[in-house]
Amino acid sequence: DWNAEHIIDELIEGVRAQVGEGRVLLAISGGVDSSTLGLLLARAIGEKLTAVFIDHGLLRLGEREQVEAALRPLGVNLVTVDARAEFIGALSGVSDPEQKRKIIGREFIRAFEREAREYGPFDFLAQGTLYPDVIESAGGEGAANIKSHHNVGGLPEDLAFKLVEPFRTLFKDEVREIARLLGLPDHIRMRHPFPGPGLAIRCLGAISEEKLDILKRVDDIFVSGLREFGLYDGCSQALAILTPIQSVGVMGDERTYSYTAALRAVTTDDFMTAEWARLPYDFLATMSNRIVNQVHEINRVVYDITGKPPATIEWE
Ligand code: XMP
Repeated sequence: DWNAEHIIDELIEGVRAQVGEGRVLLAISGGVDSSTLGLLLARAIGEKLTAVFIDHGLLRLGEREQVEAALRPLGVNLVTVDARAEFIGALSGVSDPEQKRKIIGREFIRAFEREAREYGPFDFLAQGTLYPDVIESAGGEGAANIKSHHNVGGLPEDLAFKLVEPFRTLFKDEVREIARLLGLPDHIRMRHPFPGPGLAIRCLGAISEEKLDILKRVDDIFVSGLREFGLYDGCSQALAILTPIQSVGVMGDERTYSYTAALRAVTTDDFMTAEWARLPYDFLATMSNRIVNQVHEINRVVYDITGKPPATIEWE
């Protein structure tokens, strides 16, 4: 595709011209935008890029390893930070959804600033801002979008970066095409959006390591199942939710009293309104069986058949 090739060359030239000999810091969220930006910057400036991936413990099963495996072999100088204990500690006992978001945003900035000092000094902060973010800065933004958590002008003096935003004129589809040419694996390139606060807002109420662990396993069965049955690309977003509901079930000769997991899949163009995905019953039956068989803490699975509005896509 000559067009995307040409755009890549132009973007690389632009970055080199802007950055010169400066050092650039990038937060990687594991989503397509920041991952693609990592690959582009690695090509443009090599070791002058430091990409930081903060594992806040609210990621999907195996996500950190997937990101490492995708980016390091393609030359991205990637630092992964295990900040799980800090985030989970800070969220302990907090059940209000907005409070959870605030705490995660604050902890993210704290961890990111610490890494910036550890590996710095840096001259530039790179962000995967897209054209739609430029024209309308509201909406779902990933953890890697520092601006959504933090006014860059308000960063501490020694972290007063200039911004590098090579994707400011691009749409998502164009970034995906660039990602393909740069060698980003399809499982990241075509990934559904994933919220910055991650699984914390899908683990209803106060989170715990145990609950997150249950949710990760349910989510992995559902999302892997969608891929296996060829249904993933037909959904705009698919998620599992761990509800605080415990109910009676039966397993062998024994009664159980365990959690209910909810599955949600939606189709949408803009995430402002959405329809619940009409997934085949047989597929849902398979998912339900797998989940209750493999995740012993779950004895009931429900499928969310609510549109947005009135419901949101996330449950918190
Ligand atoms: P709702 O639940 O509002 O979600 O229908 C719409 C889209 O936004 C994502 N979302 C978030 N993304 N931080 C994010 O980065 C958040 O706090 C957040 N809340 C919702 C959600 O996953 C969906 O794609």
